[in-house]
Amino acid sequence: MEIVIQPTAEAATSIAARLIARLLREKPDPVLGLATGSTPLRLYEELVRLRLDWRRVTTFNLDEYVGLRPDHPQSYHHFMWENFFRHLNIAKRNVHIPDGVARNIQASCERYEKQIRAAGGIDLQLLGIGADGHIGFNEPTSSLASRTRIKTLTPQTRKDNGRFFGGEHKVPHHVITMGVGTIMEARQCLLLAFGKNKSRAVAAMVEGPIAAVNPASILQMHPQAKIFLDASAASKLQRIDYYHRVFDDKPDWQRI
Ligand code: GLP
Repeated sequence: MEIVIQPTAEAATSIAARLIARLLREKPDPVLGLATGSTPLRLYEELVRLRLDWRRVTTFNLDEYVGLRPDHPQSYHHFMWENFFRHLNIAKRNVHIPDGVARNIQASCERYEKQIRAAGGIDLQLLGIGADGHIGFNEPTSSLASRTRIKTLTPQTRKDNGRFFGGEHKVPHHVITMGVGTIMEARQCLLLAFGKNKSRAVAAMVEGPIAAVNPASILQMHPQAKIFLDASAASKLQRIDYYHRVFDDKPDWQRI
């Protein structure tokens, strides 16, 4: 794992944006895994500002709420089009988001996995982290080998996400999420976490044991995982000086 700690979320975001921009410039037809939530919003704004060419980019989103139609204001379809895709020259047919209103959810999850494979796999998967250590919507005790499927949200996550819905009682109980195993097959993972309320989850992910009760901890097994933090999210890490030293002393060829 590479731990990049910056004083602010803005600074961490702009390094992450440069990394994604570089991938888009180096590979003409990259496949990106995308995330929702408040954390990546600034990153999306910055990527829009960079005016990159998205015509040959394919995207797969991590998750969606079951029962929310694409035009529902709290659906992740709506979130992604409003905050990101409508500002890019991306082709609609290249955008993939799990179907929360599929009649046969299991079949549509299997199709999603096939589509990822047919696209050649995900080059870079963007991730946030839940306060309980979830990635995508893989809640604690999710199988670390899981594939795209339906999941039940924990009361904690429904409470956390209630702010977008005007009350946790309006948050759906079920979601579709890429599995932990699906995420782990991405060639590169880039996780962003900002703010004090993520500090415990971040410390457990980076320095705790690998365990299904903390799904993000599996990223310790990923050969190319980069974790971008602001100072508050990093505040509970034990080896913080070491992570700073590693980043500051990088040889030029390794710099982002
Ligand atoms: C949701 C999403 C996750 C995201 C998490 C954190 O549950 N499914 O992908 O990482 O929330 O959200 P936020 O960035 O708003 O803290």
